Amino acid sequence: MPAARRQAAAAATGVAAATVVSIRPVRPADLAQVIAIDSIVTGIEKAEYWRTIHRRYGDAERAGRRFLVAEANGSVAGFVIGEVRDWEFGSPPCGWVFAIDVHPQFRLARLGTQLVSAMADWFRSEGVSTMRTILARENTLILSFFRSLGMTTGPFIPLEIDLHHPGFFPIPPGRAA
Ligand SMILES: CC(C)(COP(=O)(O)OP(=O)(O)OC[C@H]1O[C@@H](n2cnc3c(N)ncnc32)[C@H](O)[C@@H]1OP(=O)(O)O)[C@@H](O)C(=O)NCCC(=O)NCCS
Repeated sequence: MPAARRQAAAAATGVAAATVVSIRPVRPADLAQVIAIDSIVTGIEKAEYWRTIHRRYGDAERAGRRFLVAEANGSVAGFVIGEVRDWEFGSPPCGWVFAIDVHPQFRLARLGTQLVSAMADWFRSEGVSTMRTILARENTLILSFFRSLGMTTGPFIPLEIDLHHPGFFPIPPGRAA
């Protein structure tokens, strides 16, 4: 997007040019704002889920996991969560980005790009050379965003099945061995 259009878009979403943005590890005091951003973006409040994620990923000392926030003028404006997974699906250690959200008021101001760039830096520092994510097919916004970072279709195909749908699975529920 040309700089002038980006500035106009940022102004429309309320991001002032003077906004000071820093990317840093999440702190316990950020959790309420993270929960609020997620509920604005997804329409579902999942406080307990986020408390669990914070326990699992919020400890900056914990190997292989990272939970970063973008702080804009003192409040949490977005976050990203990532993890290094070893030899999953036979693949060498790889960095997974599995959640990203930017508050609607702070979009189109490169916060999302800065969050993923910081995550990519951390993956590199962990010795990882590939970054992956997975996204909902109909979420064209997140697809455009990840494509803008240069990400392309990877070598894996997700498969799934409804485990409760009668007749789909070759062995009926509870009959294996
Ligand atoms: C996707 C998201 C993280 C982007 O955050 P952002 O800070 O606005 O993104 P950036 O300003 O860094 O944009 C980078 C690029 O992404 C693309 N992009 C971002 N928003 C876009 C939009 N609304 N339409 C089309 N492309 C868009 C553009 O290519 C943009 O580059 P450009 O402005 O030079 O064209 C943010 O919109 C968001 O949180 N959306 C909801 C995410 C979500 O659905 N999460 C749940 C699943 S994990």
